[in-house]
Amino acid sequence: MKRIAVLTSGGDASGMNSAIRAVVRTGLDKGWAVFGVHHGYAGLIDDNVAALGARDVGGIVQQGGTILGSSRCPEFKTEEGRSKALRTLRQHDIDALVVIGGNGSQAGAYELSKMDYPVIGVASTIDNDIHGSEMTIGVDTALNIALEAIDRLKITASSHQRAFVVEVMGRDCGYLALMAGIAGGAEFIIIPEIDTSPETVANRLRADYQKGKAHALVVVAEGAYYNAQRLQNYFKEHHGRLGFELRITTLGHVQRGGAPSAFDRLLGTRMGAAATEHLARAEHGIMVGLVNGNLAATSLADVVANKKHLDTSLLELARALNK
Ligand code: ADP
Ligand code: F6P
Repeated sequence: MKRIAVLTSGGDASGMNSAIRAVVRTGLDKGWAVFGVHHGYAGLIDDNVAALGARDVGGIVQQGGTILGSSRCPEFKTEEGRSKALRTLRQHDIDALVVIGGNGSQAGAYELSKMDYPVIGVASTIDNDIHGSEMTIGVDTALNIALEAIDRLKITASSHQRAFVVEVMGRDCGYLALMAGIAGGAEFIIIPEIDTSPETVANRLRADYQKGKAHALVVVAEGAYYNAQRLQNYFKEHHGRLGFELRITTLGHVQRGGAPSAFDRLLGTRMGAAATEHLARAEHGIMVGLVNGNLAATSLADVVANKKHLDTSLLELARALNK
């Protein structure tokens, strides 16, 4: 019998629970014992590990977050921390580990695999910034939450003829801002990948005001140099240039809560099941992701070595749509 463990690490993402459930139940289906590690890599270091049965993962597909808990664990970035983690896995006779998480978590998985331990990654982060997966678990839900907020803000913005700057998450990646901006009908989108001067934003908003628009929406990624705070500071000094009165909203962790969308439940389920399929074939040192619409594995070495490409030409589409 094989004994495998599963953990969730980094920022939580809606749909992680579906992936956990799929790992547990498909693992049990193969006759394996499955263990859950609590609070990510910290749980491995502290030996916070418990067996999971089919019922332990019942009724969780509709829940956001992760029933296993997650963490940011600086200790795991040290050799000493990773050795402690490995000791825990060996003490429990666990043959392989499934790591559900973002970029950093996959880097951690790669480090473990370099210590000759069988690890398999599952791409999950709201940032959608992992090479080897065009969509990661949690992105769709986060995007829908951002859009719901944007739709609401546009209502009040129109009533007062205001411009709103809405800051969305994404760490250093502009994916969420770009997609929320296009789907939300933003007048301007600011992403970290493209330098944007606040004067350009001001000119755009001024032109929109003069056109008689009822409101204007700027979606900005938190990782952009001119994030919401810096834009606000800039416009405080140069007010009067916009025409519109300006308000700022930072969506923050609201984007990480919420029930997972159908897409994220299915993606989590498929990826979790694929992880145990790979392990059954003794394939590891890889991450399960979505490539050209299908599940595909990419070596953890490649995942870590490459930066994901963002199609910034979509900014041009956003510009053309703003009339
Ligand atoms: P995410 O996985 O969502 O990108 P983080 O970047 O915070 O989130 O990474 C999650 C955890 O993965 C970190 O707290 C750390 O324990 C581990 N990790 C990140 N980068 C590395 C690395 N280079 N080597 C080893 N472990 C890492
Ligand atoms: O990686 C997911 C994410 O939500 C990023 O978008 C954001 O920058 C970061 O995590 C926030 O981290 P924390 O939850 O530790 O404050």
